[in-house]
Amino acid sequence: MAQAKPKSAPGAKDAISILTEDHKKVKTMFTDFEKLMNSEDNDEEKGALVEKICEELTVHTQIEEQIFYPAVRAAIDDDNLMDEADVEHAGAKELIAQLEEMEPGDDHYDAKVTVLGENIDHHVKEEQDEMFPKAKKAKLDLAALGAQMLERKQELQASGRASAAKKKASVA
Ligand SMILES: [Fe+2]
Ligand SMILES: [Fe+2]
Repeated sequence: MAQAKPKSAPGAKDAISILTEDHKKVKTMFTDFEKLMNSEDNDEEKGALVEKICEELTVHTQIEEQIFYPAVRAAIDDDNLMDEADVEHAGAKELIAQLEEMEPGDDHYDAKVTVLGENIDHHVKEEQDEMFPKAKKAKLDLAALGAQMLERKQELQASGRASAAKKKASVA
């Protein structure tokens, strides 16, 4: 029997839509945090939200670094742009690592979340205004990259959930 040609599922998302959707989701979460910051007695809610922000960003930066960035770097002639993105990711990771060790109410907690949000805003703007248009022009196979990224994303989310459950179990 002839092997069916693999084709992307209907409604499959290309790489840029996946990343842009993530950006919107994270932006909403930072806005929610801002609202929490302006009211009292919501440390529990804050902590849960920041945990979600950190998880989202960790998965997002990994699919970019492991799949999207290498493909774009190879396809466009702009190492400076890609290097800057790497450095911005490194800065975000540093703040995320600090926040993961902190609790709401700790010294500089709110400020770290706010600065992380501002840094991400700046980074997202560069991706969406500069990197994504260049990637589109370079005629990358954005559908194939998208499929790969979605698969990786699901793996990372599953392993994130598993390690979070383990952490909880060891605390209990
Ligand atoms: Fe990024
Ligand atoms: Fe991004």
